[in-house]
Amino acid sequence: MTEESACKIVALPGDGIGPEVTDAAMAVLSVICNRFDLTISVDHHIFGGAAIDGDGDPFPDETKEACLAADAVFLGAVGGPKWDAAARQGGARPEAGLLALRKALGTFANLRPTRNVPGLEHLSPLREELIEGLDLLIVRELTGGLYFGDRQEGQDVAEDTCRYERHEIERVVRIAFEAARERTGRLASIDKANVLATSRLWRSVVDDLHREEFSDIEVSHILVDAAAMKLIQDPGSFDVIVTENLFGDILSDEASVLAGSIGLAPSASLGGKGRGLYEPIHGSAPDIAGQNIANPAGAILSVAMMLRHSFGSFEAAIAIEDAVDRTLAKGILTADLGGEVGTSEFTDEVIRQLAS
Ligand code: NAD
Ligand code: IPM
Ligand code: MN
Repeated sequence: MTEESACKIVALPGDGIGPEVTDAAMAVLSVICNRFDLTISVDHHIFGGAAIDGDGDPFPDETKEACLAADAVFLGAVGGPKWDAAARQGGARPEAGLLALRKALGTFANLRPTRNVPGLEHLSPLREELIEGLDLLIVRELTGGLYFGDRQEGQDVAEDTCRYERHEIERVVRIAFEAARERTGRLASIDKANVLATSRLWRSVVDDLHREEFSDIEVSHILVDAAAMKLIQDPGSFDVIVTENLFGDILSDEASVLAGSIGLAPSASLGGKGRGLYEPIHGSAPDIAGQNIANPAGAILSVAMMLRHSFGSFEAAIAIEDAVDRTLAKGILTADLGGEVGTSEFTDEVIRQLAS
């Protein structure tokens, strides 16, 4: 890649373990760019609680401008008890910055894959035979629903509104259908259509698209409570899952531990404008922050998703995924997976694997 076509990346380390896993991910990015002759520039910007500590705003204007001018954005994690306490006194929430970032970038489709690392089925809390060959993709709607509806908050009454328009459902469901077509051709749409009007609209949009454009795909509709059960009982029965914002948030944390730990799970958030947002699905993990013990694999694998989805560098993405797999397969495990290896040791081994 030439200088003129250098990829501009904005990194937002955020709070808690965010800076630790961002350092790991950016170290791997730098090595992979050297190996594959990719020219990148990475600029770090303040975001989340760290930005609130500055001028009170979790998503300052200069950070927003940098994100909008970037080719891709990488986020560590935001939030923590310090800012929860301040928010109870009327202060801003770091999480509000994250929602504003997703909205500003227009990243309406959040891809959250989970797969087991072959030979490491024993890391799962489930029986090994349930996990063998596990490879599922949750496509979570990310810029609508309860997260973005009208909100009223009083002393004795509070209200959150869940609203979806047909076009918001259609665009994310189309991405899920396309992903299913690239994979095994099965799509599970998860909703609560026995209760919620938005879910009934969701279901009808899925059926319309299925009939009109994706009749080759096998579609099932599953109610969210039953889906939560089935993810544990028979996770291998899922291929691509598509669901609305809140259900996707909850089910993706559940799915992530099937492979062993939320620390392994990456994500890519994509939208109409071409710019992607890449973040591990975990939070700021205040209980382990600052100790160099967080699992950086989800963050590192988010860099692989960035290379694949934003820059079309498929070989570089696969090289990172293989290096993480080989590191884990050697038994180099962080504490969440029962090991004793630190964040930086794990990252160093991934980098060694990339060189070999
Ligand atoms: P969390 O994901 O931060 O932590 C849940 C549990 O998983 C903790 O025990 C933690 O130690 C562990 N864990 C998470 N990531 C890990 C990793 N990489 N390696 C090893 N262990 C890991 O969720 P929480 O505790 O509910 O939330 C903490 C804060 O993070 C809250 O303020 C929440 O709003 C925020 N949050 C932010 C994001 C984000 O920035 N994308 C996502 C989720 C939660
Ligand atoms: C996630 C997080 C966020 C979400 C929070 C921190 C707003 O849990 O990225 O999964 O609910 O989307
Ligand atoms: Mn979440």
